[in-house]
Amino acid sequence: MKSLRNRFLTAAALASTLTLAPFPVHAQAPAAPVQIHVDATHPGAQISPQEFGIFFEDINFGADGGLYPELIKNRSFEFADSLTGWKVIYNIVHMGLGAPKGEVAVHTEDPLNPQNPHYLHIHAYQAGYGLTNSGFRGIGVEQGKDYRFSAYVRTKGPKAVRATLTDDHGREIGTAALTGFTGTGWAHYEALLHATATVERATFNLTLDEPGTVDLDMVSLYPTDTWGGRPNGLRKDLVQLLHDMHPGFLRFPGGCIVEGRQLATRYRWKTTVGDLSKRETLINRWNNEFDHRPTPDYFQSFGLGFYEYFQLAEDIGARPLPILNCGMACEFNSGETAKLEDLHEYIQDALDLIDFANGPVTSPWGRLRADMGHPESFHLTMIGVGNEQWGPHYVERYKLFAAALKAQYPEIQLVVAAGPSPDGDEFESLWATWRTEHADIVDEHYYQSPDWFLKNTSRYDKYDRNGPKVFAGEYAAQTTGAARPDNHNNWLAAISEAAFMTGLERNGDVVRMASYAPLLAHKDAWQWVPDAIWFDNLHSYGTPNYQVQRLYGSNSGNRTLPATPQATDNLYTSAVLDDKTHSLVLKVISNSETARQATIRLDGLTTSATAKVTTLASADLTAENSFDHPDTIAPVDSTTPVNSGTLNVTLPAYSVTVYRVPLP
Ligand code: AHR
Repeated sequence: MKSLRNRFLTAAALASTLTLAPFPVHAQAPAAPVQIHVDATHPGAQISPQEFGIFFEDINFGADGGLYPELIKNRSFEFADSLTGWKVIYNIVHMGLGAPKGEVAVHTEDPLNPQNPHYLHIHAYQAGYGLTNSGFRGIGVEQGKDYRFSAYVRTKGPKAVRATLTDDHGREIGTAALTGFTGTGWAHYEALLHATATVERATFNLTLDEPGTVDLDMVSLYPTDTWGGRPNGLRKDLVQLLHDMHPGFLRFPGGCIVEGRQLATRYRWKTTVGDLSKRETLINRWNNEFDHRPTPDYFQSFGLGFYEYFQLAEDIGARPLPILNCGMACEFNSGETAKLEDLHEYIQDALDLIDFANGPVTSPWGRLRADMGHPESFHLTMIGVGNEQWGPHYVERYKLFAAALKAQYPEIQLVVAAGPSPDGDEFESLWATWRTEHADIVDEHYYQSPDWFLKNTSRYDKYDRNGPKVFAGEYAAQTTGAARPDNHNNWLAAISEAAFMTGLERNGDVVRMASYAPLLAHKDAWQWVPDAIWFDNLHSYGTPNYQVQRLYGSNSGNRTLPATPQATDNLYTSAVLDDKTHSLVLKVISNSETARQATIRLDGLTTSATAKVTTLASADLTAENSFDHPDTIAPVDSTTPVNSGTLNVTLPAYSVTVYRVPLP
């Protein structure tokens, strides 16, 4: 069995042999002027304008604590330790000496529902008794905004259950109370809490206003200011960053999280839809994956479940691409496989998912989608069978999936795995199988050095145009080695990815989709670096790698154009036609340490116009963006004249530039 840890060690060993050869630090003579040609009269292959998309996985607190903005950790008391995140209040500063007395316990008799068996029982002897919740590395709130405090409550008294937010000094910055209890069993109550200060790591205090006994479940503090203003909506600044990428597709929910470390903890989409209180909490597989980044409080509430993923895809204009468990747990962990005779449950999940996404409201799962608020289809066109699987067990299971899915839904494209590496025996053997099986789309992953990315820009030039298509489903340049904690989201990594992506775009007829991975990371709770977007409880920023992804997503086309040089002399190019805006779009990556002059000749075009220019550049390859300096590497817009089909430009040192030329 392999392990992610082994992958890390192997990569570390490899990394020690890596040099930054393409980026010498000594001074160089100014580079010679370069000539770039784009043949505007001989368009090449049709490609998908939706080639560049998003990979989302709940890693690094990407969902709970991130995109899913619930502020209470362990709101349903279903973590392995039922009181993770919660602590009895022994002293409330603003109440003076000593803490009010009472008792708390986690009970299971007569729960809210069978999927949510634990709840909190509070017996207060005195007013003000209660617990705190620490949130996800603190609770981030903004001054002037309203937060919905809610819970399921069962009580005959007290009259009020109160939420109070306090800042680092114990000062109150907002309070609200649930009242009007009916005393007839579980019921849902809510109240609005108005924040009077902006605090990144506030504490939530849950107290009773008078002595009494109360049962509580699904204790929630949720921003009202979500993307689209939805009650169970997503974190606005993060969705905005995703939206700005103009992603062609959204892959979810992973990643290894699909597989689970064992089958029992695999991702099962059916437990993530419907009533929030009935979604079964599950350990997150990244909780205990890395000894160097333990995260024992990492669980999945599934508040962000499959319905919300589909809705997110729709909101940001991306095609949904769910990846499903194929009856195998992560092969870096247990590698547990479901027996073939038990596979029907997994296959049925896939069939039902298509119904959930696309089926009429009269179908069982289509009905649920409609009940959740979306009677229209989510237009699902593709499904991944397995994440990063390999070996004969995988092929056997895929064949059963494919037979059943294609029989009922021949129009749905299936994505199959090519293992965890971009080459080697397993990779080759899987590809040979996928060719024979006439698989639709093969998912390749590469967590490689920047140098690898620069050297592999022609990787797809020779791929069979008639074979399965490619999904570069997970890739990112690793500055020190895969899964190492000392990788950096720096310009060195980003520019090498940008260069590599010229090859993805040029071969867009084969490479149908591509996505950087992972997507999100909480600055205080991450397991894996590098990541496209970093955030804390209030702020977020895109890394240079994000900026490269955004540039490609925003400047896609539907037809390739021959451009030269493709990859010579630290210069990488690719060009496309964009029928939608009637423009020619050229990307030029100059990986030279000095600025250089370039003449860009659009062969076949004699028109004069003004081209729009967008540039990412830094002479410093170690440059990174940060919370304090989110725009160190950020797009700079300008224009340049096109005279009789020719542009005379300066390519800055270490730069990625997009030229958009309006066509006559
Ligand atoms: O992106 C992090 C992990 O890398 C993914 O979960 C997995 O598919 C790959 O090994």
